[in-house]
Amino acid sequence: MSNPIPTHVAIIMDGNGRWANQRRLPRLAGHREGANAVQRTIEAAQALGIKFLTLYAFSTENWSRPQDEIDGLMDLLCKTLDTYTDQAHKKNYRLLVSGSREKLPPTVLEKIDKALQATANHTGLTVNLALNYGARQEIVHAVNTLLAQGKKAISMDDISAHLYQPAVPDPELIIRTSGEERLSNFLLWQAAYSEFYFSPVLWPDFNAQELQKALDAYAQRTRRFGGV
Ligand code: FPP
Repeated sequence: MSNPIPTHVAIIMDGNGRWANQRRLPRLAGHREGANAVQRTIEAAQALGIKFLTLYAFSTENWSRPQDEIDGLMDLLCKTLDTYTDQAHKKNYRLLVSGSREKLPPTVLEKIDKALQATANHTGLTVNLALNYGARQEIVHAVNTLLAQGKKAISMDDISAHLYQPAVPDPELIIRTSGEERLSNFLLWQAAYSEFYFSPVLWPDFNAQELQKALDAYAQRTRRFGGV
């Protein structure tokens, strides 16, 4: 029997820079095309009946990129959030953000808060944007929150309940594009039993067909969760 459609798919969107390089375009052109792929993928996920889609948009390590690329990404993010909020009303999407607010420019925080508020009551696909996100930082944040509450012993359930988005279930499937095969500080806690799918396609070329390929591969996996 094949696995049903996953409830939660998480994606490491990689390869924007290489996509631009191949075309002798600035890296930001790759990110812009990547933002279009984000829109396509959100629509495809909704059509497939996926309930949660986590997208790794900016990692805590991405601050080490050249300032003009960071500025370009933040600007693109603001524009994407506007488009996203419009689409969310039409299609009933809900937005969540996972990550730290620290270091994010006030303009971005404003847009995020607006989008979160505007879509909070939507009941369709939940898009969880991992933004200024690091999984080790997330676990440390959970532990520190528990210590501040006076906890002396911490259980696995305690940690799960104090992650950035505790109501989002663990992803059954994690996809990484561009042929790279590593987790890069993404969802370390939540990925304990996730299936991985590595696509050679660069993120700006990702589309509904590529998502379907990942789901087909996932459907064929045997999931034992440590059992036999
Ligand atoms: C990885 O490609 C991509 C990122 C670090 C940023 C992800 C951003 C987007 C998909 C576009 C914007 C999306 C939103 C939501 C605003 P890379 O630059 O590491 O590519 P490379 O490995 O080929 O250099």
